Amino acid sequence: MTARIIDGKAAAAAVLAEVKARVDAFRATKGRPPGLAVVLVGEDPASQVYVRNKGREAEAAGFRSEQHTLPVTTSQADLLALVARVNADPGIDGILVQLPLPKDIDAETVLTAIDPAKDVDGFHPVNVGLLGSGATDRALVPCTPAGSMILIESVLGPSLAGKHAVVVGRSNIVGKPIAQLLLQRDATVTIAHSRTADLAALCRQADVLVAAVGRPEMVRGDWVKPGAVVIDVGINRIPAPEKGEGKTRLVGDVAYAEAAAVASAITPVPGGVGPMTIALLMANTVTAAHLREGLARPRFGA
Ligand SMILES: NC(=O)c1ccc[n+]([C@@H]2O[C@H](COP(=O)([O-])OP(=O)(O)OC[C@H]3O[C@@H](n4cnc5c(N)ncnc54)[C@H](OP(=O)(O)O)[C@@H]3O)[C@@H](O)[C@H]2O)c1
Repeated sequence: MTARIIDGKAAAAAVLAEVKARVDAFRATKGRPPGLAVVLVGEDPASQVYVRNKGREAEAAGFRSEQHTLPVTTSQADLLALVARVNADPGIDGILVQLPLPKDIDAETVLTAIDPAKDVDGFHPVNVGLLGSGATDRALVPCTPAGSMILIESVLGPSLAGKHAVVVGRSNIVGKPIAQLLLQRDATVTIAHSRTADLAALCRQADVLVAAVGRPEMVRGDWVKPGAVVIDVGINRIPAPEKGEGKTRLVGDVAYAEAAAVASAITPVPGGVGPMTIALLMANTVTAAHLREGLARPRFGA
């Protein structure tokens, strides 16, 4: 069997087209665009790239987009004061504080200070609770999990009844929320982690296998059940001496070629889940704008 390659770039472009149409309609109704504020503290190079891309995408979508860049020496009190200011700005619908934060700042305190109605990352305890209790009509759902679900739905449709989903990884930003979303689609869900016994045998039971581990190519081809749908969330940079000295390349948490020979569908890295994350950030901002203005919640990727 050769797996269908799930094209995350195409799926993300489709979501962004829906975002753009929603922004135009929102602006026509409310006389203003949705607003997104992105906050970056410090000079972490990867974070700078992420924040720049988010700003570029927000402008392409027609948002009011603002970026706040603070020095690494910023105090927690000053960061909280900025969060309070954007919370109070009626033209801002989404607030994203880029992680990781400098070590002297408590990320949980900062994320909890964001107005839950503007929490487009979906990390605030209110949104975590809404997702956990199944209130997906009100929750802002983390972007990578929400994007992964659209990719799964593109292959299997909206119902996962009767399917066994195994999620490898239990982080708050990826593994746990993906598991919640799979459960809501009626999958039978197992969450695996570093203390799970015989992980390979467990993965081989999965009709839907989600890898969110952060270990390059850990999931081998013989861990994959024939015909399974494999979603590789991992993004790992590894040395690529074949491309020249000091060169690197990106790989996922799944040994792609091996798994693609067994699965029915698989996401590549890059070009799978990655592009969906930023598209869903834009979608979440539009959703937050609609909910804040008392408009019906838009659905994306349906
Ligand atoms: N595509 C995207 O846009 C996107 C977004 C976010 C993250 N990512 C990528 O997704 C991956 C996971 O991110 P994360 O933030 O969830 O990472 P994380 O917070 O480090 O969590 C990793 C999880 O994997 C588990 N794990 C580690 N080693 C394992 C092993 N040998 N066997 C089984 N489980 C193991 C850990 O288990 P314990 O809990 O027991 O330690 C933990 O639950 C990373 O590669 C990250 O770069 C991609």
